[in-house]
Amino acid sequence: MKKELRVAILGATGRVGQELLSVLEQRNFPVSELIALASARSANTFVEWKGKKIEVKEPTDEIFKNCDLVLASAGGSVSKEWGPRAVKQGCVFIDNSSTFRMDKDVPLIVPEVNAHELENHNGLIANPNCSTIQLVVVLKVLHELAGLKRVVVSTYQSVSGAGKEAIDELQAQTKEVLAGNEAKPEVFKRPIAFNLIPQIDVFSEDGYTFEEIKVINESRKILGIPELAITCTAVRVPVVVGHSESVTVDLEKKVSPAQVRESLANNEAIEVWDDWSKAHFPTPIDCAGKDPVYVGRIRKDTSSENGINLWVVADNLRIGAALNAVRIAEYLLSHDLMETKKVLA
Ligand SMILES: NC(=O)c1ccc[n+]([C@@H]2O[C@H](COP(=O)([O-])OP(=O)(O)OC[C@H]3O[C@@H](n4cnc5c(N)ncnc54)[C@H](OP(=O)(O)O)[C@@H]3O)[C@@H](O)[C@H]2O)c1
Repeated sequence: MKKELRVAILGATGRVGQELLSVLEQRNFPVSELIALASARSANTFVEWKGKKIEVKEPTDEIFKNCDLVLASAGGSVSKEWGPRAVKQGCVFIDNSSTFRMDKDVPLIVPEVNAHELENHNGLIANPNCSTIQLVVVLKVLHELAGLKRVVVSTYQSVSGAGKEAIDELQAQTKEVLAGNEAKPEVFKRPIAFNLIPQIDVFSEDGYTFEEIKVINESRKILGIPELAITCTAVRVPVVVGHSESVTVDLEKKVSPAQVRESLANNEAIEVWDDWSKAHFPTPIDCAGKDPVYVGRIRKDTSSENGINLWVVADNLRIGAALNAVRIAEYLLSHDLMETKKVLA
């Protein structure tokens, strides 16, 4: 097993790429060489890592030939082109885009939920959608406790989920509106400052957005419950970092909110903040920059026999992207799975 890896960040100048750099440093991931990759726009600029300036390059086959691990966050079309090419050069490619997530030959992994599926990887590994990751960490616990029957989730997703230009848009619009001017949307379809938008990604023919469809399909795949009854409404809110979710579950067995609280609190990846008498519940500001999935407002759904309501919050850039990807890489290393370098046909 290699002790240190040559690691490329594809999309190193982006919001997730920057978080990947921080997470690798914070977790002291064993890196022998850090390679920063982005588009021609950023070529010859620099990113900082461990106090050093690293020149940004455009991806090439030659670069991937001299690399062990690629952490990709440069969008779907870039992953589609470079994922298979990087694997062909011998890299393991962990992808944050949605391109390969529903491919039956590509494991879709949240290490706290289905790390064992990494045993059979072919070099390409998919990181789920940011909203899905925090959701399935909680659903897995509830499924083991009492069996999931139906899930209804409404997301409240921060603008950083749409990248660095979206953060700039919220900040610029906020200034404009406070100065008495009109907000001019460019990244989003409608004004985001002092507003919210019930559309993330484009609409499918049945009126669901693709973000909602991702949450539904990816949750089923990760949990290994293809028939799970689950529905989603995804909403963009004027928050910079941190996705929140209102989740209602119908369970096979009757359990009390106290039992749910205890099971969730016993899970290492989850922190329960649930004392409403003291307004102790998680908000995005509490969770930005942190590693747990936070759960609060745990209560009985009084409209259903075995229903439970919860409020789930996590840092979308860490839990929802960078930290999940690095945890996958850590699992590969610790289980000697980096050498599984089968070349794609
Ligand atoms: N933000 C989240 O919470 C989140 C969570 C999960 C997954 N994701 C996914 O992660 C990806 C990146 O998201 P982000 O929020 O980091 O976006 P972002 O801030 O807009 O960054 C995009 C990155 O991709 C690079 N890039 C764009 N076109 C490229 C090309 N042709 N070749 C090489 N690099 C290219 C950009 O480089 P330049 O600087 O040169 O433009 C930049 O580094 C997306 O697929 C997104 O869906 C995001």
